[in-house]
Amino acid sequence: MNHLSEVASQILNTSNEERIAHILKHKWIGYPSAQRILDQLEDLLLHPKQSRMPNLLITGETNNGKTLLIERFRQLHPADPNLDGVAVRIPVLYVQSPPSPDERGLYNNILALLFRSLKASESTDQKRQRVITILQQVNLGVIVIDEIQHLLAGPSLKQRNFLNVIKYLGNELNVPIVGVGTADAIRALQVDPQVQNRFMPAVLPKWELNTDLARLLASFEKIIPLRNPSMLTEKEIATKLLYMSGGTIGELSQLLNRAAIWAIRNNKEKIDMLALDKCGYVRPADRKSAVSRI
Ligand SMILES: Nc1ncnc2c1ncn2[C@@H]1O[C@H](COP(=O)(O)OP(=O)(O)OP(=O)(O)O)[C@@H](O)[C@H]1O
Ligand SMILES: [Mg+2]
Repeated sequence: MNHLSEVASQILNTSNEERIAHILKHKWIGYPSAQRILDQLEDLLLHPKQSRMPNLLITGETNNGKTLLIERFRQLHPADPNLDGVAVRIPVLYVQSPPSPDERGLYNNILALLFRSLKASESTDQKRQRVITILQQVNLGVIVIDEIQHLLAGPSLKQRNFLNVIKYLGNELNVPIVGVGTADAIRALQVDPQVQNRFMPAVLPKWELNTDLARLLASFEKIIPLRNPSMLTEKEIATKLLYMSGGTIGELSQLLNRAAIWAIRNNKEKIDMLALDKCGYVRPADRKSAVSRI
């Protein structure tokens, strides 16, 4: 089966249910804009420690691969635990922004990640100090704060305070900060020009009909275990995939998975126009109207 990768060819010999379970598992596909950002992240890890470290702001549409990209970066740089399981080196500290710009919430998230107690009685100042002390001991590489647009979900005084916290963490620890979020994240950082200046923008753009998309579709085709070639790179089907998905990698992946599962269950063994139409996928653009009809 030369339209398939070795792993996908082997999966062909398993039951339909096993094949479907395999299709639904997350798989990383490399693509140029992700690789460019991974290279930038590598550079940040190598950057000598100094005051005013460079920061990065990764933005892109929702469901367009931002969190998975960071996941990939973390897999490339796992934490080193020592014998009692406590990390001695954390190259990439990944934390989600609390749902609102809340300093205590951020520290709680960091402490929970490091398996430290949360101590309800502790003041915010004490928490801040404890976080800094712990992080100074773990040979930190970079701090990644995902969903940073949550900063916007609060009164402006709280937003500014939270931005000061980000600045403070970077300065005290001399590590680069990587913010990750939707386009709203750009607005969130604009609140403080001093913070905004320190963040280099990096964008994961939506997909368009070009050779990058063709390569991505070819990669999907290789890892989806179907017996017949689907020829996803042909213009007609690629155009339909782009139109239906709205151009994010998450939607593309969901659409292809659904169509593949339909093709397995209906003995078609390839993704074609019929599978795309019949698989029950609703375009993101049509989801709102589907809900309003209930
Ligand atoms: N490199 C990749 N290879 C294969 N599939 C991917 C890749 N990146 C993303 N995906 C698919 O897209 C989905 C959404 O990705 P992800 O969760 O990273 O989006 P996001 O940009 O963080 O979205 P949000 O802003 O909503 O958090 C993933 O669950 C996965 O199915
Ligand atoms: Mg995400």
